[in-house]
Amino acid sequence: MNAVRIAPSILAADFADLGEAVHSAEAGGADLIHLDVMDGHFVPNITFGPGVVSAVRRSTSLPLDVHLMIQNPERYVDAFAEAGADVLHVHAEVTPHLHRLLQQVRECGLRPGLALNPLTPLTVLEEALPYLDAVLLMTVNPGFGGQAFIPRSVERIAAVARLRDAVKPGCAIEVDGGIAPDTAARVRAAGAEILVAGSSLFGGDGSVADNIAALRAAAAA
Ligand code: DX5
Ligand code: ZN
Repeated sequence: MNAVRIAPSILAADFADLGEAVHSAEAGGADLIHLDVMDGHFVPNITFGPGVVSAVRRSTSLPLDVHLMIQNPERYVDAFAEAGADVLHVHAEVTPHLHRLLQQVRECGLRPGLALNPLTPLTVLEEALPYLDAVLLMTVNPGFGGQAFIPRSVERIAAVARLRDAVKPGCAIEVDGGIAPDTAARVRAAGAEILVAGSSLFGGDGSVADNIAALRAAAAA
């Protein structure tokens, strides 16, 4: 299994001081920065767009892992490429034209990721994996930070890992939602390689560096 990587989600950071949040995550050992783009349509919440991604790009040299929770993502792929995204996750549920969308992401020079909601059948991956650099398994319903991890996700991660090993060994498996020291070992044992975490890194007590270290240690246990 590949080394675990930690992707702090800035959704849980202080938006008035994003530069500081990103600097402390990088200094604290983050491997990439996760940015949650929400449009108030695909999910109930609204966050930010390419302008903020571009500002974060100027604040860190870490790869930017951009998670689009928006309808009509094809309209914005160019803008996120120009903003400096590295990985662009699109949701399988938003389009009947997934092949076209994933190709568009690749042609824009971005690494395509496919995000799946908690009850979206994994069978889409049988067809989609050859086009993907990452699978982003939602372990909560998308839209908000601070929600409880859905326990059945563990079996889904293991199923994705088996499929990934057979079809596209180089594709990363990411998990997103409710990832904290108490869930990290389970998702890691099931095959998750990139742990996205918001509130457990930015929301609690302790420094971001200490929280990243605690998450990493829990994942290794
Ligand atoms: C939720 C977002 C997550 C969110 C996770 O829709 O995709 O990235 O920041 O937050 P926590 O880690 O608090 O569950
Ligand atoms: Zn996310």
